[in-house]
Amino acid sequence: MASERNPADGIAFVDGSYVPLVEARIPLIDRGFVRSDATYDVTHVWNGCFFRLDDYIGRFHASMAGLRMSLPYSKAEIAEILTECVRRSGLRDAYVQMTCTRGVPPRGSRDPRLCENRFYAFAQPFVWIANDEQRRDGLKMVVSSVQRIPPEAVDPRIKNFHWLDLTMGIFEAYDRDATVAVLTDGAGNITEGAGFNVFIVRDGVLATPDRGVFEGMTRRTVIEMAKAMGLGCEVRAVSVAELHDADEVFITSTAGGVMPVTVVDGRIFGNGKPGALTSRINDVYWADQHAAGHVTEIDYAR
Ligand SMILES: Cc1ncc(COP(=O)(O)O)c(C=O)c1O
Repeated sequence: MASERNPADGIAFVDGSYVPLVEARIPLIDRGFVRSDATYDVTHVWNGCFFRLDDYIGRFHASMAGLRMSLPYSKAEIAEILTECVRRSGLRDAYVQMTCTRGVPPRGSRDPRLCENRFYAFAQPFVWIANDEQRRDGLKMVVSSVQRIPPEAVDPRIKNFHWLDLTMGIFEAYDRDATVAVLTDGAGNITEGAGFNVFIVRDGVLATPDRGVFEGMTRRTVIEMAKAMGLGCEVRAVSVAELHDADEVFITSTAGGVMPVTVVDGRIFGNGKPGALTSRINDVYWADQHAAGHVTEIDYAR
């Protein structure tokens, strides 16, 4: 029964109501489920504050526009729904997802224009891509043999559920005694992995792929931070060879911030410990969220 659930396990917003996350349901024939016809975005709450809430919701709206979807909610109303999910959960550190699906087609129809788009949201306890030990000691990465879906086929800048390439990459990473996989573009360049962007550091200069990737909010934040810290940061094609030859490698995600990679394809970087610059950037990422004006405090008592 709903009342017996612990709100701290998560709260969802479905069909205009707030429900315990484990009880949230979508119709089986929503095209979001049967056709991956959906877009979503994920922001986080840390110490009771949303991070870059307006930017995440702005990106969500841009993704919807890219897929010719629309919702009856303004950006302010979406912000209010997300806030209410967190407030009801009581979570101080949370992973907060907003999703728009194409919806349920009229009976017998395959015409996506006839669907009423649907909105779902939820807050659940913060999710880390990497566990405590991996964040402290570094992740082991492989360059996957799976190619990332080309941007000409599915635009990766629209956050989507086309994750089978990324998921098969995860299996390959585990098969090869690693924890994360970066996929290539099939032309010798790296792209991204399951839920994260990749940065390399060479001679104190950062570089991250410009194409075939989701333009992550953490990636954007690191690019902005690098500028403020006086570090060079290049957004350009990054080859697999450059990844192998880098001084440091790290990945970025809303689900964890800046996370060090210390092994790529069996090659150990430096002394096998997270790189100094990576650690500095991670520290600044977490410490400067308030200073950078990126936070929206949640009023739990309201
Ligand atoms: C494919 C992909 N790349 C990169 C990212 C990182 O984006 P962000 O920093 O906005 O979490 C994500 C996040 O889920 C993702 O799904």
